[in-house]
Amino acid sequence: MTTRILSGIRPTGHIHLGNYLGAIRSWVSMLDQVDERLFCIVDQHALTTAEDAKDLRKNTLTIAAAYIASGIDPVKNHIFVQSHVPAHTELAWYFNCITPMGWLSRMTQFKDKAGKNKDQTMTGLFVYPALMAADILIYKATHVPVGEDQKQHVELTRDIAQAFNNYVENNFFPLPEPIIKSETARIMSLRDGLKKMSKSDPSDYSRIHLLDDNETIELKIRKAKTDTDPIPGLVNNLEQRPEAKNLLSLYALFTNSSLAKVIQEFEGKQFSEFKPKLAEATISHLAPIRDAMIKLLADEAMLLQHLKKGADAANTIAKKTIKDVRSALNMV
Ligand code: TYM
Repeated sequence: MTTRILSGIRPTGHIHLGNYLGAIRSWVSMLDQVDERLFCIVDQHALTTAEDAKDLRKNTLTIAAAYIASGIDPVKNHIFVQSHVPAHTELAWYFNCITPMGWLSRMTQFKDKAGKNKDQTMTGLFVYPALMAADILIYKATHVPVGEDQKQHVELTRDIAQAFNNYVENNFFPLPEPIIKSETARIMSLRDGLKKMSKSDPSDYSRIHLLDDNETIELKIRKAKTDTDPIPGLVNNLEQRPEAKNLLSLYALFTNSSLAKVIQEFEGKQFSEFKPKLAEATISHLAPIRDAMIKLLADEAMLLQHLKKGADAANTIAKKTIKDVRSALNMV
């Protein structure tokens, strides 16, 4: 069976360390293991929260630059913008017609974003998961590498695929598997170890942006919340200390080590001693990516050319699927 991965990032706000570690770095680690790889910048999803979509053009190009700068070769992989492949929204419509509202109402991301004011919430936000299912299924993707917060949406994608297959009485779509790496599933906020790092947190100090300069990275790590206890010798002793655990885990990720080894190395030390080491490890990993992003963003014509090549390849696959979908639905 051909393996095909598809994943994407919404171009809202600043792309941050959580997106990098939870998504992009995990994609890069599996490039050699799958037959075909599609990475989308989901600009139509950004429009579901209008307040986040102000800098859509700039943010879309920044995410494209982040993909390439992190090691996704635009020649060997398909990097493209969602709105350049119209079949996504067409398939999303067909999915809207077979997806019960109850399924969409249960999505925790919708509940969090809509809050109590459901009547004022835009329809696009409600049907967002059907569009995400279309992003994945239009390519008949078999695997979807994401962070933990997207697991529920990928599970719903499987339900929608099954509902469509039942409707057309055919195993039309494969049921895609979410791939979630445990060590990077949930990178936490630098200000609150119980909240995930997120683009929508009002504080810039809660996250490291991929375009932050070295001084800003150092400052954000220096100001990151910790406690006054020294670093323990056992991982179990971190359970009640989420901020401490998050910072030590980041160091393990950037030094290709394990949390247990990092703890051994720093046992008994204060965070004031550990933080400069974490800043150094973070900068040495992120600075080359940031510098490459800046270079890529300076040549917009070239970046657009990469995106066009990606969209051409994506359109070829997507057009074939949509033709078969129309035929399966008995459309003229
Ligand atoms: P988005 O744009 O919120 O996030 C993009 C990716 O980053 C991961 N992520 C994190 N991982 C670990 N720790 C964090 N703190 C953290 N914050 C974000 C997310 O899990 C995600 O993998 N609905 C999706 C975008 C989307 C999509 C798709 C993804 C649309 N269509 C099809 C996969 C396949 C979203 O809003 O991701």
